[in-house]
Amino acid sequence: MSVSTTGFSPRRAVCVLILLSGAACSDPKSGRGFTLPEGEAERGKAVFSELACSSCHSVSGHEDLRPEGFEPEMTVALGGETPRIATYGELVTSVINPSHRLARRYSMEAVSEDGVSKMRNYNDVMTVDQLIDLVAFLQAQYELKDPDRTYYYPYY
Ligand code: HEC
Repeated sequence: MSVSTTGFSPRRAVCVLILLSGAACSDPKSGRGFTLPEGEAERGKAVFSELACSSCHSVSGHEDLRPEGFEPEMTVALGGETPRIATYGELVTSVINPSHRLARRYSMEAVSEDGVSKMRNYNDVMTVDQLIDLVAFLQAQYELKDPDRTYYYPYY
């Protein structure tokens, strides 16, 4: 019996459809369908200060979070120009599960120990409202900027 590899196979067609719809094939742990209610950036800034996030983070344009004489534990910069703004899901993950994906701009030793983020764990002290407002504040600190691209003219 010969098996056709190029012909139409109903079973393959069904699987492609399932993959395209994403529904039945998605990982049960995926973030699909995750949405936060609208947060308030101003309140988020107050939370940032209350929870002492500024002891490890500077936020560009909010130098008042680190007044004169303030002694930071470390400085991981948040906000500023970025080629891609983090989604709510990514920002929430950075706050409640920081070791999931460590900030890429720093050396591993600077920001983590044995793969675990040096960021403090707030999960048993932060309210959901605080988290929502924090994310609204953080997201507003990033500015979308196209990465510098060098344009090459066609060579004739
Ligand atoms: C003890 C120091 C420390 C404190 C306090 C701290 N963080 Fe962090 N944070 C880090 C370090 C180190 C990283 C980089 C490693 C990582 O990605 O987890 C980080 C990463 C982040 C990132 C991801 C940055 C990126 O570029 O990917 C966000 C967002 C963030 N922190 C938010 C917060 C917020 C909000 C608070 C307060 C509720 C806070 N952090 C408190 C140390 C801290």
